[in-house]
Amino acid sequence: MNAQTAQCKCTEDRRKFSEIANLVDLYRDTEGSLIQILHAAQEMYGYLPMELQEIIAGALGKPLSEVTGVVSFYSFFSTKPRGKHTIRVCLGTACYVRGGKKIIEGLQDKLNLEIGETSEDGRFTFEVARCIGACGLAPAMMIDGKVYKQVTPQKLDAILNAYTD
Ligand code: FES
Repeated sequence: MNAQTAQCKCTEDRRKFSEIANLVDLYRDTEGSLIQILHAAQEMYGYLPMELQEIIAGALGKPLSEVTGVVSFYSFFSTKPRGKHTIRVCLGTACYVRGGKKIIEGLQDKLNLEIGETSEDGRFTFEVARCIGACGLAPAMMIDGKVYKQVTPQKLDAILNAYTD
């Protein structure tokens, strides 16, 4: 990374952090403010690095341990950068008995990723879900908002190839 790129990233971080300071002011006195602020921060920044959690704790006058405790308790908060696309393979009962595990293994093979990881190229984050409402056509998986039904390991290449960006 050259000096100019580093400078740009730093400027960008400062801009985002200043927006988060505004959010803290906005939600400060509302009930459940910490969770709302963390949601909004993750929406803006993509994830919740420790530096950001420290800023939020400081701005709210709360101990850092309270903020990190909430972030680690809820699975929808992430402390690592997420991929551009999120793959969620359903492991609810219907999908599990109809081959959901084979879909998981197929994706692990193709992407060289374990559940919860993000690919090195930043393309995919790989997660599991517990029913995505397509039980009648199990096994199912979802990429971003799109649901794929009756998935087989043989269909995975075609599905993944639609996400080349
Ligand atoms: S159990 Fe997989 S969609 Fe419902």
